[in-house]
Amino acid sequence: MKTTKELTESKTSLISQQQVTWQGRDEWFFNREYTDRYEDYYEGPYKEAERDQKSVLEQLIKADERVEDILEFGCGTTRFTRWWPDIGLESTGGDISPFMLSQALYRFDGDLVMADSHHLPFKDQSYDAVGFITTFEYYKDPVQVLQEAARVAKYGIIMGMMNRNTPKIIRRRAQQAVGKNQYYNTATFYTPRTLRKIIDKALQGRKYTLKWHCTGLPKWFPIKKWDVPVGDFFGMYIQFTDR
Ligand SMILES: C[S@@+](CC[C@H](N)C(=O)[O-])C[C@H]1O[C@@H](n2cnc3c(N)ncnc32)[C@H](O)[C@@H]1O
Repeated sequence: MKTTKELTESKTSLISQQQVTWQGRDEWFFNREYTDRYEDYYEGPYKEAERDQKSVLEQLIKADERVEDILEFGCGTTRFTRWWPDIGLESTGGDISPFMLSQALYRFDGDLVMADSHHLPFKDQSYDAVGFITTFEYYKDPVQVLQEAARVAKYGIIMGMMNRNTPKIIRRRAQQAVGKNQYYNTATFYTPRTLRKIIDKALQGRKYTLKWHCTGLPKWFPIKKWDVPVGDFFGMYIQFTDR
């Protein structure tokens, strides 16, 4: 696979290589210094974790047999967007960052849109499912985002995110405090329980079931996923039962 630098130099990008930040925003995904290294992280230390995360997400979404296509927002470089077809789902990606989407363009064959998850530019019930994978942590108004997703999704919403209930939380916060990890600076971490509270608030009047599993347990641990709310990552599926 070509490096990000080779890709962006060889093709027209959404945004010029000279532009390194976007609209004076502080978040890492508006800063080329971080976005252009994003895929390297997945290809390196994160590979095993990614495999376990995909396994959790697959188990959750495939249990709803009505779902054949998915709109994934906060798709980034399309690490997951280009994987959904491997489990039989047609996918479309969306993201707010022109830097992340510039890479997405050359890594993913399907449709992409640049927009904010708080204002999804789609008609009601346009997709069977809407997905948010390690992006929900960055949303300023999570209730509004869920209401938007519930409007656009016909059958369900799949979410995957870093768990606040993890032994690594101390390391994450310490790295952040000393300015060593820009990725977490503007992030809010949830647990399955705190996320459930937000979902219940956002989806008042709707009928749905919730399922979740955790993964990201220590390497020496014999289990890779479980239904105890501890682990580095958890997936949750909101299945609408009123449609
Ligand atoms: C940690 S990355 C995750 C990317 C991808 N889902 C993955 O798992 O590799 C978070 C992504 O969320 C996007 N994002 C953050 N806030 C957003 C918003 N309000 N609307 C749409 N995308 C957003 C960022 O641009 C970034 O690409």
